[in-house]
Order: sequence, then structure tokens, then C-alpha cells
Amino acid sequence: MNAPLYAIPGTERAAARDAQSRAAARGADPATGMATPARTVADVLRESQVEQMLADLEGELIGLAPVKQRIRDIAALLVIDKLRLNLGLQAQAPSLHMCFTGNPGTGKTTVAMRMAEILHRLGYVRKGHLVAVTRDDLVGQYIGHTAPKTKEVLKKAMGGVLFIDEAYYLYRPENERDYGQEAIEILLQVMENQRDDLVVILAGYKDRMDTFFKSNPGMSSRIAHHLDFPDYAQGELMAIAEHMLAGMAYRFTPEAEQAFDEYLARRMAQPHFANARSVRNALDRARLRQASRLFADRERVLDETALTTLDESDIRASRVFQR
Ligand SMILES: Nc1ncnc2c1ncn2[C@@H]1O[C@H](COP(=O)(O)OP(=O)(O)OP(=O)(O)O)[C@@H](O)[C@H]1O
Ligand SMILES: [Mg+2]
Repeated sequence: MNAPLYAIPGTERAAARDAQSRAAARGADPATGMATPARTVADVLRESQVEQMLADLEGELIGLAPVKQRIRDIAALLVIDKLRLNLGLQAQAPSLHMCFTGNPGTGKTTVAMRMAEILHRLGYVRKGHLVAVTRDDLVGQYIGHTAPKTKEVLKKAMGGVLFIDEAYYLYRPENERDYGQEAIEILLQVMENQRDDLVVILAGYKDRMDTFFKSNPGMSSRIAHHLDFPDYAQGELMAIAEHMLAGMAYRFTPEAEQAFDEYLARRMAQPHFANARSVRNALDRARLRQASRLFADRERVLDETALTTLDESDIRASRVFQR
């Protein structure tokens, strides 16, 4: 078939041309407009651009080896499913609801967002967005308020990932008439019936999640993947800091790096330490100190080195060192 040279939108020719260019975008033969279905893993990875996403995940997230491995396994399953479908073999959408356990700042939200994008590119969900909620977004205060609230959230999340932070708060055994139970029941239904277009990720502390699953076996049995996010070792936190700084066009002097290593050792031993989140906050405060330091010197010409360098004093001024 010859491609028309022009077409009026809405006409048959325009429709044919649109279909053709869409097909071409999928890697189809432009002359026939017929899709040449992917036959190799490389074909699928290229068409979906998931190769790059997996590489980014590898390069941009420090540590988390078991988490990254599981994401690769899930991607592999979906790629193979796609190849099976292309040959007309049966490929039932696998259940991909997940549970992410770990302490604050271990990367759960970050990984969930990337997971949503990968699931989208591999065609598992239509849109690939992430809707992050907690109990208060799902559960109402009064009788009759919970179902509409939960359904509204589910509607927003459909086609993507629903991320429920501290999911165990949905269940309050001490209160027999708690409305959380109603939200759980609606979630369970949708997790079962619409699992090919919605992935639910429950997140929170490991011990509380274990207790929650013991009391909610229905929920437990619908979770296909449990991913544990361990606390980062000091060396990993240092690597995360360097990575964050590079991303913001800053760097440590060698003395500042040494000081930050000491900072980490002290901060990790203090209460409310939140892994990578604490690192980000510490760097934000160091940037404030650097800015004040430079600001104080009105006449100095600030070159690139001055503007991008955090020095030892920017780190050691932290309260963590004052005792
Ligand atoms: N492995 C990692 N490598 C690089 N940066 C990371 C890593 N893990 C987390 N971060 C960064 O740390 C910050 C906190 O991560 P995130 O919000 O994903 O943690 P979380 O587990 O969801 O925490 P919370 O339980 O407090 O919500 C983010 O800025 C994120 O980019
Ligand atoms: Mg989070």
C-alpha cells in the first residue's frame, strides 16, 4: 500500500495514515503497516525502553541489591509474557501486588515510582503513575464515608500504582467498629478483580507489617512480592551522599568528606535517624551553611569552584558535632 501524500484529519486516509505511523512507532513495517511482533527479549526491551530504566535503576540507586534483582525478575516475567502473547500463547496477567518493608528513608517510595514506570512501559498498567496515600486518605470519620473515599482513591490510581504508606494503620484491632476494615475489604476486591490494571504496594515497618498480615490473611495472600529494604551501611550512605551532591552540582573537599564520614557515624547512632532521607537533609543544611559563608564575603568573586564546593566547616558546624 502506498502511503498517501496528504490526508484530511478525520478521513479514512487520515485514519489509515495515523494507524500506519502508530504501527511504525511500534516497530512495524511502514510499507505494509503490519506490525512485526517482537520475537526476542532485545526487541521488547528496545520497544519498551525498559533497558534504559533498568540501567538507571542500577546506576542511580546505591545498594539494594536484592530489591534490584527482584525488579529485574519481574521485568523478565513481563517481557517473556509479551513474547508468549506475540506467539498466541496464553499469558495470564501475573499478580503483582507488593509489600515494601523497611525503615524510613530506605528508598521505598523511590523504588515504587520506578516500578510504576517499568510496569507501564511493559504494558502491564495503562498509565504508570503513582498515587501515594495513608489511612486518612482511605478511611472516613463517620459511617458511610469510607467506601466513597476509598473508591475515589482507587479511581485515581487505576492504570498505575497505589502506594499505601504505613498500611497496617488500616487495621485497628482495638476498635471493633473501625472503618479501616471497610477500606480493606474494598481494596481486597479490587486487588483481585482489577489486578491487570492496578498494582497495590503496601509499605511500612517490617514488624508491624508482619502483625498486620497475621490478622489479615486475605491481604497477605494477595501480595505476590515481599521486598525488604535494609538500613544502609555507613559506606552506602557516603556513596548516596556523593551521588546526591553530584546530582546537585556540589562536591566535598577531601576534608569535608572525612568530616561527613564522622558526621554519619555520629548521626546513625542518634534517634530518628532516617537513612538516605537524613543524608539528604544533612546535605541541604550543609548547602545553607555554604551559602551563608559565601554571602558574608561581599566583594569576593565567586568562581565555579567556590560555588560548588562544600568545605569542612560547612559540615563540622552541625549540631551533631557539638558535644
Ligand atoms: N539507594 C539509594 N540511592 C540513592 N538515593 C536514595 C536511595 N534510597 C533512597 N534515596 C534517596 O533518599 C530519599 C528518601 O528515599 P524514599 O523517600 O524513597 O524513602 P522511603 O523508604 O520512602 O522513606 P519513608 O519511609 O520515610 O517514606 C530520596 O531523596 C531518595 O532519592
Ligand atoms: Mg516514602
